[in-house]
Amino acid sequence: MPFRLEPLLSDGQVEELRLALLAEDTPWRDGAETAGWHARGVKRNRQLDPSCVLHQTLASALGDQLLQHPLLQAAALPVQLHNLRFSRCGPGEGYGRHVDNAYMAGGRSDLSFTLFLSDPAHYQGGDLVLEDPGGESAIRLPPGHALVYPSSLLHRVEPVTRGERLVALGWIQSRIRRSDRRELLFELDTARRALFQEQGKDEIFDLLSRCYTNLLRMWGE
Ligand code: NI
Repeated sequence: MPFRLEPLLSDGQVEELRLALLAEDTPWRDGAETAGWHARGVKRNRQLDPSCVLHQTLASALGDQLLQHPLLQAAALPVQLHNLRFSRCGPGEGYGRHVDNAYMAGGRSDLSFTLFLSDPAHYQGGDLVLEDPGGESAIRLPPGHALVYPSSLLHRVEPVTRGERLVALGWIQSRIRRSDRRELLFELDTARRALFQEQGKDEIFDLLSRCYTNLLRMWGE
């Protein structure tokens, strides 16, 4: 189940990131260089050179901020966040239908995230479209907001027709490989936290906590 971090970054943080990323001497490279062999033909974007100091500084700070988000902690149960990238698409650029590689140099991809950094009023097209059994959903979020979704889904980025779409994206390896189990744990955790708020640490809370903790022990890696 996809979920949103609304917002992950403040307006000031977004502006600071945008200024750094869009400075004139920033090294951007063809995104097809990092696509899997089957996705290379449909990937048209530019990515900040991951070997430059700017990338390392920004990616490390942003990765830490994502990992500290309470909703991300509870819903994703992350082991690590990896392969964070900054991507921009101008007119004619986008990323055709594909599925993300299961294993990357940084780890396994259980969840993918996209952090939107452009004002949706300033570009057209560029929707992130997710395909699941219930149909398609097209997503464009305000700057500073992030979407986290299962890496198992087919997805695409519609071609940008005007302006520019700037995002950060990356992957999360979860303690829980299966998304159905991850969702159950998240619901159980949400329920026990709500109960704790209402009634404190009573007998039902203790039982629910025992279920949650032991399922995590049983399924976790
Ligand atoms: Ni993708």
